[in-house]
Amino acid sequence: MKAEELRQKFIEFFRARGHAVVLSSSLIPDDPSVLLTTAGMQQFKKYFTGELDAEKDFNSKNTISIQKCFRTSSIDEVGDDTHGTFFEMLGNFSFGGYFKEEAIKYAHEFITSKDWMGLEIDFVSVFKGDDNVPADEESEKIWESLGVEKIKKFDRDDNFWGPTGNEGPCGPSTEIYVKNAVGNSVEVWNLVFNEYYSKSGVLEPLMIKGVDTGMGIERLAMVTQKVSNIFETDLFTPLTSVLPHELPERVKRILADHARAVSFLTSDGVRPSNKEAGYILRRLMRRMIVHGADFENLFNKVGEIYSPAYSELNLNVVLEEFKKENDKFQKTLKSGLKELGKLESIDAAAAFKLYETYGLPFEILKDTEISGDKAKNLSREEFDKEFARHQEKSRAGAEKKFGGHGLLLDTGELKAVDERELKIVTRLHTATHLMQAALRQVFGPEVKQNGSDITAERTRFDFFFSRKVTPEELKKVEDLVNQKIAEDLPVGFVEMPIEEAKKTGALYFFKARYGQKVKVYFMGKDLESAWSREFCGGPHVSHTAEVGKFKILKEESTAAGIRRIRATVE
Ligand code: SER
Repeated sequence: MKAEELRQKFIEFFRARGHAVVLSSSLIPDDPSVLLTTAGMQQFKKYFTGELDAEKDFNSKNTISIQKCFRTSSIDEVGDDTHGTFFEMLGNFSFGGYFKEEAIKYAHEFITSKDWMGLEIDFVSVFKGDDNVPADEESEKIWESLGVEKIKKFDRDDNFWGPTGNEGPCGPSTEIYVKNAVGNSVEVWNLVFNEYYSKSGVLEPLMIKGVDTGMGIERLAMVTQKVSNIFETDLFTPLTSVLPHELPERVKRILADHARAVSFLTSDGVRPSNKEAGYILRRLMRRMIVHGADFENLFNKVGEIYSPAYSELNLNVVLEEFKKENDKFQKTLKSGLKELGKLESIDAAAAFKLYETYGLPFEILKDTEISGDKAKNLSREEFDKEFARHQEKSRAGAEKKFGGHGLLLDTGELKAVDERELKIVTRLHTATHLMQAALRQVFGPEVKQNGSDITAERTRFDFFFSRKVTPEELKKVEDLVNQKIAEDLPVGFVEMPIEEAKKTGALYFFKARYGQKVKVYFMGKDLESAWSREFCGGPHVSHTAEVGKFKILKEESTAAGIRRIRATVE
């Protein structure tokens, strides 16, 4: 069974059992507590807590998705038989619709029935219980009633899931293990029964008991295609087969995995940088580049495999960004490798220096094909500590650099390559503040920023809001912004300690990290009476009339509870 057939079967099975099919959300999550999407349940968190109503949004209490996921935890493990960074997770969910009995019966039928996967279950696992949460005897009984005899009991590490980030739904889980072609037992499906909400480690009963399951398609393909590892499935063989024959198998696996991850992360809007998701992307790209520079065939293959199912894949942008990163990295790579050659061994301080001066990421230093065993004693933990120490030092809001083409601005939020672009992004930036204030005036305080990205073409603003927005409401927002532009409000800022700044009622972005002192930008006569107040590093125009005419180009939903507006200025 080809991977595409697995996707179709999964959809068919659950659709016939009353589940609404929900599109994968972006790899950039709406969940503030995590950097990237790691699980299918993330976009549904608010349906488990009762903040949103699945019946209303999906016409059903039960949903499925095929979710794009990325896990940094397995970056170092890529190359073994079962781990990838990017993967697709097949999942069924229920928000108060059904619970353990149906969930286990569905999974059992889908895995074992000849009409579906026709696989043999090797064993299942259930939660054995601890001081806080009782053993999951109910699941054990259900498996027994289905004739499954081998039931193992595992502790919290294996059979209790969640929460993602600092808080969220969580609960005991039961897992299904199937043997692969060489007889190893592989966990293919994890069924989580959300019955608690965890906040700072304290468990409270969840409003709505729910089901959250996840099955990596790569592993399912491995066992249905009867091969011994994920890289032998049809999801990977077309990729590894375009790579040079002489490359070691492990390197081929890494390149294939990273090419998929790079393609999806870039297409979802991540760009290589020195922080957060951008830093992850940079590491993946550089890890590839160190093994070669021309991966056009490989990326084209990724496009061939995934474009039919994922219309967001944008190979042109992927190739362009990869090329840019390659050009940047080539400038220092050779000297970096030379420097590396001189060292006897690499500790955290030396590793950070190699990264800072030559851009060699941790993974490259740990890559034995590149560094032998020089970094044998270097741990990720030590390196991350060193990295964080330096980041702290250089956390200087906006970063201005002088490149070959004049002034370049890259604050993470705003990007401009020259003076002309700088002027436009500055106007768009002020417009974005006005728009957030207008959105809150029209829709109330539920509106909260979830991200923004400003280029010379447009501003893109993501915010939390739980329902559809009407064209009339959008027009109201647009008119209100234009009205404030026409009023030609002065734009200014005051700098103050963060605690004091919070008391002014200024908006701030929960994902951003602020220093002890922050600037509060305001639009109006003074800070107290201002119409808009936000923590911000600038730059902004000095009077709102400089913004010009503001126009909303598009409004859409990017995930449950998240809206996205693109707008421009003329
Ligand atoms: N959230 C669980 C997991 O990621 C089940 O989907 O494994």
